[in-house]
Amino acid sequence: MLLTAFAAIRRGEREKHRNLMLTNLGVSIVFLVCYVLQVSTVGHKSFPGDDWVRVVFLTILTTHTILAVCLVPLVLRTFFLAIRQRFTEHRRIARITFPIWLYVSVTGVVIYWMVNHLRPYA
Ligand code: HEM
Repeated sequence: MLLTAFAAIRRGEREKHRNLMLTNLGVSIVFLVCYVLQVSTVGHKSFPGDDWVRVVFLTILTTHTILAVCLVPLVLRTFFLAIRQRFTEHRRIARITFPIWLYVSVTGVVIYWMVNHLRPYA
């Protein structure tokens, strides 16, 4: 959805870009609520093993977590500027927000797959 929103603005489809970015925001909020509920009820799963796969996992998890925290003010600022129609500034900050958001989204799925399928905690 992020990539589709980006492709839309590159084609000059402003309304489609806005709607898709708002949907992205909605989906992210739903995900965050579900994640907080899951952590507070089920708790954390630790990644088993003591090898290079665990090093790769921890590297992805660390970069994902740090960038996810940075993403909150970036997304809010990017939306604020767009809603205020300050599009020159929006475009400037969006070029930072967009790749970070994409990285956090993709690594989130990778982390989910590693914890639950690659090496599920026994
Ligand atoms: C956090 C959410 C958003 C992100 C990550 C984002 C991302 C981007 C990016 C990367 C560009 C530059 C594309 C390029 O390189 O040509 C852009 C441009 C633009 N965005 Fe967004 N966008 C977001 C939300 C919105 C919203 C909500 C609106 C509408 C209210 C909007 C309206 C626009 C417009 C009109 C441009 C073109 C600006 C120009 O060319 O001067 N964006 N956006």
